[in-house]
Amino acid sequence: MRVAVAGTCGLALLIAQQIQDSTSHQVLVLSRFNQPNLTSQGYQCQVIDYGSSSSLRHALMGVDTVISTVTGSAQLRLIDAAVQCRVRRFAPAEFEGRPGLQTPNSILDRKKSAARTLLRSHASYMQSTAFVCGIFYERFAVGGLRAHQIGARIASGEGDYIADLRNMTAVAPIYDSADALSSLCLTSMHDVAKFVVKSLDMANWPSEMSLCGERMTVHSLITLIGTCRGRPLNPVEWQNPSGLQYQLSITSNPTQQQRIATHLATAEGRYDFATPAYLNSMYPDVVVMSLHHWLTHTWAAVP
Ligand SMILES: NC(=O)c1ccc[n+]([C@@H]2O[C@H](COP(=O)([O-])OP(=O)(O)OC[C@H]3O[C@@H](n4cnc5c(N)ncnc54)[C@H](OP(=O)(O)O)[C@@H]3O)[C@@H](O)[C@H]2O)c1
Repeated sequence: MRVAVAGTCGLALLIAQQIQDSTSHQVLVLSRFNQPNLTSQGYQCQVIDYGSSSSLRHALMGVDTVISTVTGSAQLRLIDAAVQCRVRRFAPAEFEGRPGLQTPNSILDRKKSAARTLLRSHASYMQSTAFVCGIFYERFAVGGLRAHQIGARIASGEGDYIADLRNMTAVAPIYDSADALSSLCLTSMHDVAKFVVKSLDMANWPSEMSLCGERMTVHSLITLIGTCRGRPLNPVEWQNPSGLQYQLSITSNPTQQQRIATHLATAEGRYDFATPAYLNSMYPDVVVMSLHHWLTHTWAAVP
């Protein structure tokens, strides 16, 4: 089976690597640029122009499944081309919270709702699924998400989400709108890639597939970070949805808006879902990494 992975962000490359290393499927990496590094590692790559439907159609010829990490109008064009090329299945760039809880056209949307609507309209020709994994562990990486070649167009620096593990400060959306403790699910990108690749062998894809490394309250997350770093976060600014909505209304800085909107989404439970998650139950042989292990290992060399 020929599987196209669109984009060369850290997640796309982990998925491509897993397909290449652990399956007999053929993987094709779609990128706007030549990728000599990937080609030299044996990957088949195709340069594409998202502005040209013939370029997209040419790239998707003979492709069974597309895994997209590309957002915005580029992804909408990729979906159109996939339908024209009779691609069987398409996984859009989701890999975060439950789609039903996302706000269309919000600062976090990046035309993902438009992509879902388009995919729904083509459901009789092409299956699609949203991989729902919650927050990537890598948001807490040394150097932030950006150090993992992901999130170039969002607030993705070190300390941009909840906790600054270098300076041990935190801004934590711990309460939901009912003043109860908010919860979230988190997964390492490596485990996301493992589940995505497992799902390639499923005969049919449901419209959503959840997978999870760990589920916890934001309050427990703050405690866990302190344990892994050997000292507590201090100070911690506790946040709730109404405070966050107010902050959002008075901020004009786009990076700040994204940070606040992501905290608001967390407080509202957008990254929370029932566990054991769907793919964890389907593939109990996939052993996920704990956040405790990941954080301790990742920050071991940083005092
Ligand atoms: N759960 C989480 O915590 C979390 C956090 C961040 C992201 N995500 C998810 O991860 C996926 C990737 O996110 P991302 O923020 O890295 O997406 P992105 O900035 O849109 O980049 C993804 C890929 O899109 C391609 N691309 C196509 N047109 C582009 C353009 N005009 N500008 C920049 N890149 C373009 C790039 O590949 P080429 O340059 O090779 O063409 C790039 O590797 C999404 O599904 C997102 O929802 C999840």
